[in-house]
Amino acid sequence: MQTHQLFLELKKYLTPYTEEFEIESKLFICHFLNWESNTFVSHLTEEIPEKLYKKIKSAVKTRVLENIPLAYIFKKWPFRKNIYATMPGVLIPRADTEHLVEKAIELIRQKNITTIYEIGYGSGIISIEIAKEFPNCTIIGWDISKDAFKLANTNLKKLILNKIDKLHPSLSNTIIPKFFQTDFFKICDDYPFNFSNTLFISNPPYIKTDTIKTLAPQVILWEPIEALDGGESGIEFYKKFLSWHSDKSNQGSNTKGYILFEIGYDQQKQMEKLSETYNLTLSITKDLQNHPRVCLFSN
Ligand SMILES: C[S@@+](CC[C@H](N)C(=O)[O-])C[C@H]1O[C@@H](n2cnc3c(N)ncnc32)[C@H](O)[C@@H]1O
Repeated sequence: MQTHQLFLELKKYLTPYTEEFEIESKLFICHFLNWESNTFVSHLTEEIPEKLYKKIKSAVKTRVLENIPLAYIFKKWPFRKNIYATMPGVLIPRADTEHLVEKAIELIRQKNITTIYEIGYGSGIISIEIAKEFPNCTIIGWDISKDAFKLANTNLKKLILNKIDKLHPSLSNTIIPKFFQTDFFKICDDYPFNFSNTLFISNPPYIKTDTIKTLAPQVILWEPIEALDGGESGIEFYKKFLSWHSDKSNQGSNTKGYILFEIGYDQQKQMEKLSETYNLTLSITKDLQNHPRVCLFSN
């Protein structure tokens, strides 16, 4: 069977199950044939070996029967220019989060930020992308999840530690992100934060508890609830964090700095209220759909 025939077969099979039937068919074939997806069209008349055909069909069947996301089948997923390892139990990198990282990079450069604290690092994408751009920054992250701790360290090894000589030959003692496994709110009162030239960054759980049940089955069944559930209002994390940050400032810490959050497309109004409550300046960046997506608080 040739590639284009298999493509049509997969497309037909996947159509009732996903709106992404076309891209998924292509990604399945490229993954198993080890082709870059942007070269797919150049392989259309190639013969697919029988063994691989069977492997692909079986993977596609599993995808449908178990509602398993592609990123967990492939055990890897792209984010910006890098490929990250993935595993069930840890949120799959989302394209929306690229906006958060771009904004962080711009801000770190403009404001000469030297310390970055990430809350909820998941697979490590945000801290690792920032570390690649700014090898001299101190980056420290916390995540409540044991699986996230394992996966973020795997990605750190794959994308930074194993490449350190190539990436930054002059920096044998490069400061690399340090990931901790803990509930941030359990340590934040005692941790010796450096508040000068600092950025706090997070893509926290921001979906209302009541909305979770309306998400696609592949999300509900496979992605971790602690990465999604933002409580009754959807913004419980943001409220808790800003309240802690403001208390620190009231207790005399000079917390002048920046706080960068990814937000849900419908949460701008809630962020505006929070900025008034805590007397912070707010700036919002929109995503490609023109939805509010990144929220910057500064004081
Ligand atoms: C939406 S996911 C984001 C993961 C990753 N940063 C990304 O953008 O793909 C939120 C992450 O926050 C973590 N998390 C939730 N509550 C937390 C808390 N109180 N302390 C530390 N991490 C927390 C979850 O385990 C999850 O990995």
